[in-house]
Amino acid sequence: MLEKLAEIITNCSNGAVLTGAGISAESGVPTFRGKEGLWGKFRPEQLATMEAFIASPEIVWEWYNWRRQLIGEVQPNPGHYALCELERFFDSFALITQNVDNLHRLAGSTRVLELHGNIYRNKCSQCSTILDEGVDIDPAAIPVCEKCGGKIRPDVVWFGEMLPEDVINEAFARAEQAEVFFSIGTSAMVHPAASLPLVAKRAGATLVEINPEETPLSHLADFYFPAKSGEMLPELLTLLEQRASH
Ligand code: OAD
Ligand code: ZN
Repeated sequence: MLEKLAEIITNCSNGAVLTGAGISAESGVPTFRGKEGLWGKFRPEQLATMEAFIASPEIVWEWYNWRRQLIGEVQPNPGHYALCELERFFDSFALITQNVDNLHRLAGSTRVLELHGNIYRNKCSQCSTILDEGVDIDPAAIPVCEKCGGKIRPDVVWFGEMLPEDVINEAFARAEQAEVFFSIGTSAMVHPAASLPLVAKRAGATLVEINPEETPLSHLADFYFPAKSGEMLPELLTLLEQRASH
């Protein structure tokens, strides 16, 4: 099955990938859903909403500082590196991620479409002005925007918020153009990101899913690999490289 997929990729020029928390699981970043998931331990509406930030910004910042620290201690895994390499096998390629953990960039991917923002960036909660990356926030003394006085918040998408319009528009355009579309390590339940594989498939793409557990996409996928992305993607890469060297 993997050989067949490698052959298809070799004959395609336009590829796109959607990743979710599962791609970073092997790096040690907890996923959101499932037994060990973050949302089993924490209540999203108390941490990842504008209402929560207005009510208790210090608690929200404590949670994001904790996640920043956690993510800061981990490294990209072979899945992230393989996706960086995969780009070479297409003329046009898009790496779309729901993750805010920055690990695709750390692995070397250059053109990453971050649908849900980036946990290392801050922005104004009122006027959305972006602040330089790497600004540490003290929950007891949250800085305010120089322009409007709004409290500074992490530049991530919270529940009930719109996704950055230019990013989601480009992601949908890429999904429509893709001849092969990968859905990797996402439960495929949170829209609009979860619509991307469906849009790609409807527009004629070969749909590939990599996830140890079945999702609503699995039965629609042309190739479903119930495997860990950090193991499966390097295998695919090896096959592609063998083909390229022949
Ligand atoms: P989820 O936690 O919903 O799903 C993670 C998926 O990764 C599950 O389907 C797992 O089976 C799979 N998985 C686990 N280990 C894996 C591995 N080694 N290789 C491949 N897959 C593996 O995370 P997302 O789908 O990313 O939104 O969640 C989507 C959004 O919901 C997140 O971006 C976040 C959350 O609320 C916001 O914060 C806006
Ligand atoms: Zn402002």
